[in-house]
This record gives sequence, structure tokens and C-alpha cells, in this order.
Amino acid sequence: MFLLSVYYNMDTSKTALAVLCGAVGGCILGAGYMLWRGHHHGHGHGPFTQGEFENIWAHTQYGEEEKELLEKTISFKEGLEYYSKIFELCSKYKNESITSRALDIGCSLGRTTFDLALLFNEVIGIDTSVSSIEKANKIKEEGQIAYKFLIEGEITKDYVGKVNPDIDRSRVSFIVGDACDLPSDLGQFGMIIILNALHHFPDPKKFLLNVHKLLVSGGILIIDEMYVWHDMLGLPKDRWVSGYVKENGEEVLGIDGLKNILSESFELLETKEIPSITRWKTRMCMIGFSEGTVWKRK
Ligand SMILES: C[S@@+](CC[C@H](N)C(=O)[O-])C[C@H]1O[C@@H](n2cnc3c(N)ncnc32)[C@H](O)[C@@H]1O
Repeated sequence: MFLLSVYYNMDTSKTALAVLCGAVGGCILGAGYMLWRGHHHGHGHGPFTQGEFENIWAHTQYGEEEKELLEKTISFKEGLEYYSKIFELCSKYKNESITSRALDIGCSLGRTTFDLALLFNEVIGIDTSVSSIEKANKIKEEGQIAYKFLIEGEITKDYVGKVNPDIDRSRVSFIVGDACDLPSDLGQFGMIIILNALHHFPDPKKFLLNVHKLLVSGGILIIDEMYVWHDMLGLPKDRWVSGYVKENGEEVLGIDGLKNILSESFELLETKEIPSITRWKTRMCMIGFSEGTVWKRK
């Protein structure tokens, strides 16, 4: 349930520098599919013209957008710098006192897993997708990945995405695994990073209640999320981290949900909105405004 997207240097004809897992695209594709399946299974309608999607079109066609959102203009370039921004955040919180081991949960094709090897001696990327981990291992071996990017209709363009050659890829390993059922011999880490993956986990709440055990004292947890619990894969409501209304009418939104669960074992160090652009096709992309939060294990 993810979309491959790429960014490349448009000034030169050099081939792609990186392969990204399209978190936003994956979310929206997932949402679209779930909403469509939930409301129109078997009716033969397209996913985007019915049911809850009509509210999206209503807001698009008639809605008056909130000032706060209108002010969030981001450039294409800024959106494509998502992984660099994530790396900056990791670099900022990497210090000598934490163990030189990092874990990237929901690593997909491993872009951030490789980047973390610039900061840590050992990095493990873990993902439930067998196919992604196979590809990540191939990228580890070859330092690059060949792929096709959809231009229009049946027309695609061939690219080769390369891992930064400064990265020592032997520091990285990839394993297939479920965040909610991790191997017991993983040991402890200095940093754990979860980028747009938490909402995919079968039980994100349970995962968050236990994640401190994987970190050394003073270790850093970085979560980047769009908080799309409801949209994805029909996650039962009692497992949502936020986005619900309490019995007393109080709305629990985004970071408040994380705080409710993590505050006992973690100190919140930073909150940062990290815009991203996921390219679907030549003339179509998606903007995301995920929230990055940095937590230090007490
Ligand atoms: C939207 S992608 C994000 C990938 C990557 N973190 C990034 O931001 O580029 C979400 C990833 O989480 C993985 N995933 C979903 N459920 C998981 C689970 N229970 N444990 C580990 N990974 C999981 C998916 O296979 C997918 O590769």
C-alpha cells in the first residue's frame, strides 16, 4: 500500500538520486480504496465520486479554507526535501552519549535507513513488506535501484535511483518484521525512527506503550505522522492514538494522543511540521503536512 515516487535533479540529465516511499500517496491511495470499498463495494462506481469523498469535493469546490492552512505555502523544492529534513532532525539529536545503533521501523525501501548510517555504526530497517525488504537488500548490494516512473497512461520513464555514495551500506541491515511483534533479540537502540508508518501498525497504541523498552536511557524516538488512523485499513477505534472524542466531549488530536501514551516514559523535545511532496505522475503530486515529534527516553 505504498507508492513509489522519485525526485531527480531537473537541472541536469543525471538520473534519480533517491527513491522515496510515498507516505502521502500511500495514505491517500489507502484512504481512497478503503472509503470506496466500504461504501460502494460491487457497485461499479469509481472511488472518488461517492460517499465520504463527496465531502472532500464539497470542501474543495465550496469550502473557505482556514487562514492557517492558506499560509502554509510550500515550494515544490521544499516538499521534495522531506528526507533531508528528516536527516537534519536525526543529526540534531544524535549525540555521543547514545548507543550507536538505530532502528527504522516501517523502513520501506530504506532511504532513511541508509541515511542513518551516516550517523550510526549499525542501522536496522524493518518492514512487514517482504517485497520492500527484498528490494532494500538489493539496493544495499548494488547501491542503486532501477525503476519506472509513470508519466501518463501506459507511458513510463526509466530511472536509476542511487544511494548517497558517502554512505557505508555495510552498516545497514534489513529484516522483515512487524512493529507489534518484533524479534526478541533486537537489543536496544540509541535512536528509533518511524516515518508515516505508525498508522499502518495493527495496534499503534500497544506499540507506543512498549517502544521505550527498545531504547537506551536518553535514547531518541522520532515519529513523523499524519495521524490518519481512521482512513487506513479500518483500524478499530480502540487502537487509534488520536482523532477521537472522549466521553466528556473533549477532542483528542494528533500530538495530544501521542503525549497521553508516551509521556510516562518520554520527554517531548521538539515538534516540527515537515512538508512533503509525493509525485504520482508528471502533472500530479500530493502535499503532506506531517508532524515530526522528537521524544527522549527518561
Ligand atoms: C507509508 S510507508 C512509509 C515508509 C518510510 N518510513 C518512509 O517514510 O519513506 C509505511 C511503511 O510501513 C510499513 N508497515 C506497515 N505496517 C507495518 C508493521 N506492522 N510493522 C512494520 N512496518 C510496517 C509498510 O509496509 C510501509 O513500507
